[in-house]
Amino acid sequence: MSNDHAQWTTVDRYFTDLLAPADDALDAALADSTAAGLPEIAVAPNQGKLLHLLVATQGARNVLEIGTLGGYSTIWLARALPADGRLITLEYDPKHAEVARGNLARAGLDKTVEVRVGAALDTLPLLEQEGAGPFDFVFIDADKVNNPHYVSWALNLSRPGTLIVVDNVGRAGKVATPHPDDPAVTGTREMIELVAREPRLDATAFQVVGTKGYDGLLVARVLS
Ligand code: SAH
Ligand code: DHB
Ligand code: MG
Repeated sequence: MSNDHAQWTTVDRYFTDLLAPADDALDAALADSTAAGLPEIAVAPNQGKLLHLLVATQGARNVLEIGTLGGYSTIWLARALPADGRLITLEYDPKHAEVARGNLARAGLDKTVEVRVGAALDTLPLLEQEGAGPFDFVFIDADKVNNPHYVSWALNLSRPGTLIVVDNVGRAGKVATPHPDDPAVTGTREMIELVAREPRLDATAFQVVGTKGYDGLLVARVLS
């Protein structure tokens, strides 16, 4: 495992240096997140770049993120928006939100991005009441136990053609078998099974290895 991980990291560095290089705002976002004691679980640079490319390909103007942390993935997402685009990102922990606001301001994205504090299951209904949707792109990366609810909400707040991406669906391979003792695995499995039986969604999921270890990503398109 450790040899594998060393190799995944080497290859990630090779890809990232050429195709998803950091800049001052991205570097500072990670550095300030770490300095503030946030967990080092932001998406890898090449995953951030994938999110960026998907938002651009969507021609998205209205993006929703569930799970902000220090705003690292948020920067990748928001930089793909047109000048009049906007992004709402939902974060439970006020300290994470505060760090994210600083990182987003330094990246010049404070007019584009709104960080909303609260449990996403409380703030998502408010988005619906406000008519904040439909969103063109939704990135789900918060507490994994609630993933089935987050996908249902993403669907509620979508239009035909909306793309929904869910992080961390591989869980080091644990996802393939029931783990009643692990609510993150249970939530992820329930989410995948919900997506599979939902006729409004067309989806795939794949395993990912890299600097963050062995995990996976789900991508779903809203059909109707
Ligand atoms: N998307 C980020 C990483 C997010 S880590 C990136 O890649 O840069 C997961 C985040 O979800 C944490 O900041 C955590 O506080 C937040 N979170 C956990 N439970 C939540 C909830 N119920 N509602 C909203 N956010 C939640
Ligand atoms: C964890 C959460 C994430 O969103 C992630 O990408 C990696 C790890 C975690 O809670 O451990
Ligand atoms: Mg994640």
